[in-house]
Amino acid sequence: MVILGIETSCDETAASVVRDGKEMLSNVIASSMDLHTMYGGVVPEIAARSHIESIIPVIDQALAEAFGQSKTENNTSPSTSYQLPTSNFDLWSNIDGIAVTYGAGLGGSLLVGVMTARTLALTKNKPLYGINHVEAHVYANFLTSSQLPGYKLPDNSPEFPLLAIIVSGGHTQLVLFRDHFDYMLLGRTRDDAIGEAFDKVAKILGLPYPGGPSIARAALDGDAHKFKLPKAKLDQGAEILDFRRKILDENPQITNLKSNVSYDFSFSGLKTAVLRLAQEQIGEDFTFPSFKVAEKLSELQKADIAASFQRIAIETIVDKAVLACEEFQPKSVVIAGGVAANQELRRQLSERLPVAPSYTDIKLCTDNGAIVAALGCFKAMLKAESADPYTLAIQPNLTM
Ligand code: KG4
Ligand code: ZN
Repeated sequence: MVILGIETSCDETAASVVRDGKEMLSNVIASSMDLHTMYGGVVPEIAARSHIESIIPVIDQALAEAFGQSKTENNTSPSTSYQLPTSNFDLWSNIDGIAVTYGAGLGGSLLVGVMTARTLALTKNKPLYGINHVEAHVYANFLTSSQLPGYKLPDNSPEFPLLAIIVSGGHTQLVLFRDHFDYMLLGRTRDDAIGEAFDKVAKILGLPYPGGPSIARAALDGDAHKFKLPKAKLDQGAEILDFRRKILDENPQITNLKSNVSYDFSFSGLKTAVLRLAQEQIGEDFTFPSFKVAEKLSELQKADIAASFQRIAIETIVDKAVLACEEFQPKSVVIAGGVAANQELRRQLSERLPVAPSYTDIKLCTDNGAIVAALGCFKAMLKAESADPYTLAIQPNLTM
């Protein structure tokens, strides 16, 4: 089963061809990140316009790379330069279906990908699969081989039941998969996503966008135990209580259900605590404007704050992942989303989780088309319902 995956939910225009959900044949990404840097975050209108310019060349390149035509000179990493094949007519005969992200994401950005995929599904006469972007991130971990050089992939796909730690710029979730498409959302953030917290703290410290890699870099020179920052304490939601009852009914052997643990997260308090700490460090009170704090902080103060913030933000995730492992005893644990690239997260998880987590190539942690194509393959192989190419609509607020 060979699927073309198309991803345009944020600022990356991406397309990839994946075989059988595990073999990556191509992975092409054009990012408009540089256009957003001066604004300190993604500008939706600029992202959407950039998708329109890039989408067709990116898809053409993904087909060409997958099936041996006009390979780029250096395709060790997701390529950003295009070489338009003179005709990709024959290449389409290799494709069994098209998968496209229809949510969650920015409306204008999603529209470009979905309308392109709908049109291609009709004109090339291929089945169309609508893909949930957050779910797709998990499928980075199912890719075990690639005809592209330069990817470090795991030897085996993860086994079910599988605990997915989804940590990105828009999402922070713990999800327990009992099988493909059969999952329970154990917890999610009630305010900021963890990646968003990294981005906002980076802004306070005057570090460049995207904040995650900037904080991680600054933290290398800092003392992660220099400052004490708070972790949010939350009550559990009603859904998880029902799920626990169901799990108990189905699995009487499970004895460690935790009756009073919430798997939800909150990062807005931590972000505010960082701002207060930074204001205090420069001898100012809470009325001092946040955008002026960075210029008064020394490099060492920035590094210590970045390291202390990173340690606590990551610990918050790992604490709950450890509890979820104890409670639901998954056979495998995977991390997904842009923040999965964070080395401190990988270090803490390896140290504390009872199940060795599976890590995929960092290039597949951030947004790309291969995750969409991989999930699309499983939809096609397991005969999930395909989408109507005349009506598939975007869902910017889609959840799992
Ligand atoms: O999954 P992604 O590419 O886009 C979304 O779907 O959100 O994730 C982007 C997020 C950004 O917030 C970025 O700051 C964060 O992932 N990120 C990191 C690292 N690399 C990217 N956060 C922490 N450490 C990193 N090394
Ligand atoms: Zn993403």
